[in-house]
Amino acid sequence: MKHSLKLGIAVLGLFVAAPQVAFTQELNLVCSAEQDWCDFMVNLFEEETGADVAMVRKSSGEALAQVRAEASNPKIDVWWGGTGDPHLVAAEEGLTQASGVDISELQDWAQNMATISDGKTIGIYAGALGIAYNSELLAEKGLEAPKCWADLADPSYVGEIQVANPNSSGTAYTELATFVQLFGEDEAFARLKAIGENVNQYTKSGSAPSKAAGRGETTISIGFMHDMVKLASSGFPLEIVAPCEGTGYEVGGMSIIEGARNFDMAVKWVEFALRPDIQSRSVEVKSFQVPSNKNASVAPESPDLASIKLIDYDFATYGSSETRGRLLARWDDEVGPN
Ligand code: F6P
Repeated sequence: MKHSLKLGIAVLGLFVAAPQVAFTQELNLVCSAEQDWCDFMVNLFEEETGADVAMVRKSSGEALAQVRAEASNPKIDVWWGGTGDPHLVAAEEGLTQASGVDISELQDWAQNMATISDGKTIGIYAGALGIAYNSELLAEKGLEAPKCWADLADPSYVGEIQVANPNSSGTAYTELATFVQLFGEDEAFARLKAIGENVNQYTKSGSAPSKAAGRGETTISIGFMHDMVKLASSGFPLEIVAPCEGTGYEVGGMSIIEGARNFDMAVKWVEFALRPDIQSRSVEVKSFQVPSNKNASVAPESPDLASIKLIDYDFATYGSSETRGRLLARWDDEVGPN
């Protein structure tokens, strides 16, 4: 009798334990960095942990839209990469949760994201916004090289500029927030509208305009300098400009989704992605953001943030749900394509 009871408990234990084992081996990730970096990170993590990671790449604003849409039934466990502002919005809206991992090795700017969000998002890299131009095309067309944001409104550039849509792209939202911080809101919108006269396309992803400039499909692009360096170091004829008025920057975010089904594995990912040895490997896919771990190596190609005139970007304000919603509605109304 005792024997069969023990056996019964053991069998029951098996039934209870078995699904848990399978459960903890899975991870659902939305990745808002470049596709090759997303794939690289997933492969490294799978090799190290044996986990099975299902990953989809989405621009920052699109990832926020997915996380919002799935709030009552989350399918994503971790959101890795993408600009920090929409991660902060997700935290404020209760869509993400704290991981509790140690962040003491991180740069102050990375810890700041955790401070603003009660630990719900953590900074993983930083990078400055800039302008790139295709030097061959510029010369062919006899155009002057832009030096400042103000230059981009010059009528000689009509149809020559490409930039992303700030609704879908964190890069373009960083541009919008940068203009507001540099020039004040009304003047920022007037300038964006004037530049808009020269824009040939508002793309979904933030790095697409610089890729198009590299291929000679547009002369000028607005985007993150590290993405431009990636293209220039791959042989594309791109010159990179730090705008004379000063510029904004991103702190890339990483967040665990509230209600994540694979929380333990999500925490493992967070710990993994913050490790200096892992962050130092981003150069293998030519991702030249500045890593957030103080002990990670910074690639020589990474734009030196200390030598660029950076604004004191206000992440708490521009990463708030109210400000984001208001600025995007105004952008749709006054700047975006109808
Ligand atoms: O990985 C490239 C990158 O520029 C990141 O630095 C940034 O966080 C992300 O892309 C933003 O992409 P998007 O503008 O498409 O949201």
